Amino acid sequence: MSQDLWSAFRTAWGQSAQGYDSLYGHGLHSEAERTAWLLLLRRLLPAQETPLKVLDVGTGTGMIALLVAELGHEVTGADYSEAMLEVAARKAKQSARDLNISFAHTDAMLGELANAQFDVVVCRHLLWALPYPEEVLRRWKEVCRPGGKIIVIDQLRPRVHPVRQGVRELADLLNPLIGSGDSHDGDFPKIPLHEQPLKRATSVLPVANAMRRAGLVRVQGERLPWIDAVERPAMPRLERWARRWNRYVVEGWV
Ligand SMILES: C[S@@+](CC[C@H](N)C(=O)[O-])C[C@H]1O[C@@H](n2cnc3c(N)ncnc32)[C@H](O)[C@@H]1O
Repeated sequence: MSQDLWSAFRTAWGQSAQGYDSLYGHGLHSEAERTAWLLLLRRLLPAQETPLKVLDVGTGTGMIALLVAELGHEVTGADYSEAMLEVAARKAKQSARDLNISFAHTDAMLGELANAQFDVVVCRHLLWALPYPEEVLRRWKEVCRPGGKIIVIDQLRPRVHPVRQGVRELADLLNPLIGSGDSHDGDFPKIPLHEQPLKRATSVLPVANAMRRAGLVRVQGERLPWIDAVERPAMPRLERWARRWNRYVVEGWV
């Protein structure tokens, strides 16, 4: 990816930070969503008596990082956008709970965390955006202790019928009026698909294969329709009809 595209993309994430949590399928919109995500994370994190050291890469506004910290683990949220990290840190500070959480300003190759070691690396909604997923996964593997685990959570976005697409565009136009939606603020550049090879994945397979190529073992993935089921009721009827995503998780061991 050219330096210009890379910088424009990074700037756009910063611009989207303030409104990020209001987007459906991004921030939490109900107690049921919170409960479902906590259940998922509890299931995915290896059972152990002492708190796990968990790195959340591309933490954004800290949605996953905060929930993992709430489960009692020691969490580092990493992101290359300072604006995102500011929102995440503010939320951590405002939390009623005493969370063991810190933040690192670094890109996905984790230059600022050169000598760190974690039990688990988790990443939601970032791998699709990267031009070199295997390289990044190899780097995450390096910061994971032997026997540690990498967890990738994301959404498959099936192609939508043109009528649905039209409704979706209408919803995007109306969103500024109703104050919520699924369109990021920020001037996101158009990036050629070959620069984001996982963006249009139609199954968990491409992500699982990238993890295997990066040297992870016992890689397994599954769809998460029960998370979709709690997220969708938060959306207005029109948007619910127009927007489709299918959540999935893929996990692999070091
Ligand atoms: C879609 S948001 C996901 C945020 C959060 N993980 C979540 O699930 O809500 C993508 C995040 O990744 C960050 N990001 C994008 N590219 C990155 C890179 N190359 N290195 C580090 N962070 C990156 C963005 O700043 C943004 O906060």
